[in-house]
Order: sequence, then structure tokens, then C-alpha cells
Amino acid sequence: MNDFWSGWVMALIILNYVAILLLFIWAPGAKIPVGEDGTTGHTWANGLIREAVNRLPMWWLVLSTVAFIAAFIYLVRYPGFGSYEGTLGWSSVQQLKEEEAAINQRLSQVWARVESSDVLELSQDKPALKVAQRLFEDNCAACHGMDGKGVSAIGAPNLVNNVWQYGGSVDEILSSITNGRKGLMPPLGKALGYGNVKNVANYALSLSGASHEAGPAAAGKPVFEQQCAACHGIDGTGNKLLGAPNLTTGSWKFGGTYRDIVTAIEYGRTAEMPAWKDRLNESEIKLLAAWVLSHDNDEEARSHEDS
Ligand code: HEC
Ligand code: HEC
Repeated sequence: MNDFWSGWVMALIILNYVAILLLFIWAPGAKIPVGEDGTTGHTWANGLIREAVNRLPMWWLVLSTVAFIAAFIYLVRYPGFGSYEGTLGWSSVQQLKEEEAAINQRLSQVWARVESSDVLELSQDKPALKVAQRLFEDNCAACHGMDGKGVSAIGAPNLVNNVWQYGGSVDEILSSITNGRKGLMPPLGKALGYGNVKNVANYALSLSGASHEAGPAAAGKPVFEQQCAACHGIDGTGNKLLGAPNLTTGSWKFGGTYRDIVTAIEYGRTAEMPAWKDRLNESEIKLLAAWVLSHDNDEEARSHEDS
């Protein structure tokens, strides 16, 4: 604050203070014209409402006086009176600095633990997971959703349901994040013809027990074994190395309606997870892997409770 504005603020405060003080001194002795009936003579609503002359309530006077004195003490002790700094030497900047230092102190302990712990340990470390949650929201949630449950429009898989396209071990998750992933299923509509697409789609649905037509599904089984099993496995449980999803879980990257499955077969599917090794450091990637695993564990814990 430069001298002019400081002086301006001081002048305003003094003016206000003096005005209020004068009001306090003047008000108790002020003469108000009172009529014979004890009112000011002002009436409303055809005389139904009249203005009486009453003393201010005591509690109001006491409260106002206390507030007046408290404001004065405040201005002496804290900054507020122009550029005067107050006797306590407090400042919001200083307070912010101290709080930041305290947070950094705590965070540096967390980062030190991240460096010295392995991913499994970190997946149980509450303060570390808090930092991981922020990292996830900043870098991953745009594609995988705030809750990590995936976004089917772009084929970003659910990361919190124990179903893995590329594997759920520590190393596989670290590799997914570090190097990225790119899956490709070629379009097979032309090669198969419409009848076979319909049949094999019904068979694919039957693998997870989803509703399907039994006749076409039975006819689709040999087609699956010939055209799909090379990638998705003879039993449909997928292939981690190719990123061919497990079709038996009922969890779908791109949606699980009959239409979605037919689209996958006719036009193919592809999706890409970007590599993070140039954008995040090793500790951050470790933390994110721990975040993914911690949700996996949650799910496991819950399913154990259920059973
Ligand atoms: C641009 C969108 C996008 C962003 C951002 C993104 N992902 Fe992905 N992620 C994907 C897609 C799409 C796949 C599936 C890739 C495929 O189909 O080959 C995937 C796959 C994965 C997998 C493999 C899952 C499995 O089942 O094997 C993991 C783990 C993963 N992502 C974690 C993360 C983490 C952690 C972040 C944040 C650093 C992140 N992703 C950011 C789109 C994204
Ligand atoms: C060359 C290997 C390959 C073949 C052959 C193949 N797929 Fe796929 N399929 C994949 C891959 C890889 C993905 C995942 C693409 C991605 O998300 O990156 C996929 C995805 C899918 C999906 C989407 C899964 C989801 O969760 O949304 C369905 C459904 C599917 N395949 C069914 C089939 C059927 C049925 C056949 C046979 C007619 C077949 N696939 C043949 C590799 C293959």
C-alpha cells in the first residue's frame, strides 16, 4: 500500500471512529419531541401503528460498546490501520508461509517414504494415497473417470474392479503406466458376413452369462473358436500380452449391449493409453500404481466380506 492509500484508509477509519464516538456521547442526552400520549406523533395505518419513544435496550448498548472497544484493540494489535503493522507483527503472508512450510515438511516425509517403499507397501499407506488421489485426478481421471471406473466411449478400462486387460501385478501395472498401452482388434465384419457376426456376437454375450439368443450362440461357438480364440483365448478369458479383453467377466470396456458387441466385431476396436514416463517421475508413477492397487485391494476385501 503506498502512502496515499494508507493515509486514505487511516483517515476513513478515524472519521468513522469519531462519528460513532460522537453518536455514543450525543444519543443518550438527545431531546426527542414527545406528544401528550408519550409517542412522537408519527402514525401509520390510520393511527393503528404509532411511534413510541423507548430507550435502547441495555444488551444492545453493551454489545455495541464491546464491539467498539474490540475493534480498537484489533486495530492496535493487527494490521488494518493503513500500513501500520500492528503490535503482534502478524501478517497473512507470514501465516501462509508458515502453513506452507508445515505442509512441505509433511509432504517431504511422504515423498521420502515413496522412494524407499515398494508399490505394495504404498498401497496401504494412507497419507501417500492421498497424494496419489490428487495425481490420479490431475492426470488419469479425464480418461478413466474420477472414480476410476472407466469411460466406455474411449475404451478406457475400469481400473477398480479386479478385471485386467494387461494384467494386475505390480510390474504389469507399472508397465501400463510407464510405457502406455495400445490394443487393436481388426474389423471382421466383411470376413465373417452378417449371419456369422450375429451368431458370434450372441456367443460372446453368452460367455459372461449376459442375455443372448441360444440358437445363434450355439452356431457362433465354432466361429469364435476359429476367428476370435487366437486373441481372446479358446475359453474367452483374453490374452494379457495382446491386450485382448477377457469376455467372460461381464465388465466391458466399450459397453456390453448386443449392439456394442456387433460393432466391435464389424468395425474392430482400438484404444490407446499414453505413456507417462516422460511426463511423470518414477515416484509419481509408483504412487499411481499404488493407487490402482489399493482400489483393487478394496474390491477384494469387499468380495471376501460378501462371501
Ligand atoms: C488419454 C486417455 C488416458 C489417460 C489420460 C490415461 N489412460 Fe490409462 N488407459 C487408457 C486406455 C484407452 C486404456 C486401454 C488401452 C488399450 O485398450 O490398449 C488404458 C489402460 C490403462 C491401464 C491398464 C488396465 C488394464 O486393465 O490392464 C492402466 C493400469 C491405466 N490405464 C492407468 C492409468 C493411469 C494411472 C493414468 C494416469 C497417469 C492413466 N491411465 C491415464 C486411457 C488413458
Ligand atoms: C487380432 C486379435 C483379435 C481378434 C482376432 C479378435 N479380437 Fe476382439 N479384441 C482384441 C483386442 C486387442 C481388443 C481390445 C481393443 C482395445 O480396447 O484396445 C478387443 C476387443 C474386443 C471387444 C470389446 C471388449 C470390451 O470390453 O468392450 C469385443 C466384444 C471383442 N473384442 C470380441 C471379439 C470377437 C467376438 C472376435 C471374433 C469374431 C474377436 N474379438 C476377434 C483382439 C482381437
